[in-house]
Amino acid sequence: MTRRRVSRGCGKLILFGEHSVVYGVPALVASLPMGATAWVRESSENMLILRDGRDDTIHFRTSPDDSGTPVERSASALFSAFTSDACHEVEVTLDIPIGAGLGSSAAFATAAARALSDFIPGSPSPDPRVLEAVEASEAIFHGDASGIDARAAMGKGVFRFVRDQEEEPRAIATKRSIYIAVCEAGPPCQTSVMVERVRALHKRQPQVGESLNRLVGDIVFQAQRAFEDGDTQMLGELADVNHGALVAMGVSTPELDHACHLARAAGARGAKLTGSGGGGCCFAIAERDSIANVMEVWDRHGLRPLQTVL
Ligand code: PMV
Repeated sequence: MTRRRVSRGCGKLILFGEHSVVYGVPALVASLPMGATAWVRESSENMLILRDGRDDTIHFRTSPDDSGTPVERSASALFSAFTSDACHEVEVTLDIPIGAGLGSSAAFATAAARALSDFIPGSPSPDPRVLEAVEASEAIFHGDASGIDARAAMGKGVFRFVRDQEEEPRAIATKRSIYIAVCEAGPPCQTSVMVERVRALHKRQPQVGESLNRLVGDIVFQAQRAFEDGDTQMLGELADVNHGALVAMGVSTPELDHACHLARAAGARGAKLTGSGGGGCCFAIAERDSIANVMEVWDRHGLRPLQTVL
């Protein structure tokens, strides 16, 4: 019955290529050092608890139910992947904002699945059920998801992701540390709603949709080279252009645009929204000596910044 600290799942930052990645365009993604930590113990019934570690509140406490709410169905997907004679209580604590485009759902599912795999005797190592369970949970929250969050949650560093690619993505190294500030520019929107909005644009304007995807593909290609070279100037410029493409896709908001403008005015090399948009987070690329300025400006505007180094 002892409670054990078992596992982590990483949050993620889509650096370049969100939305276009759904159509097969590559994306550049970073696993974040922050994310989710899971504890597991035997219990009288299966129970999944999500705690928001930033204000120490219980976000939900739920038992699995196949026909219930998305959270109950996610719990069901997780527990049914790890059959066991015993029941378990899994408690997951998140240290990234929930549902804001930083991959909180995949981080939480990965931490929970790894914890169950680790706790249940006789589990293989590595355990293929972990990724399967996380992908099943992500499909519930994200609809037609590309799988990008599930990969990043495993902790891959910075990597190129292509939808439906069989081989494991490889970490990409940079010659120089890249300083990134992230902020929450507004309440999050559901990923599936934003993915559907882009799909509707592609239906109405197939050639425009294709042109935007080609542009984003070029941006991702250049961005990978700029990242490898540690060229923050180029990365910043490409972030600005990628943000423009996302505006054209209809997934930005005045709050996200404003947060990007604030960062650029505070000395960032460039800024863009990250994830599905419609609210949620954006990030800025800055030099070591200007990152504090960007953080300070966002903080002054109540945008809850956090910092990471790639
Ligand atoms: O749910 P988010 O904000 O992490 O965004 C997911 C990225 C999308 O490209 C918008 C959707 C997907 O499945 O790749």
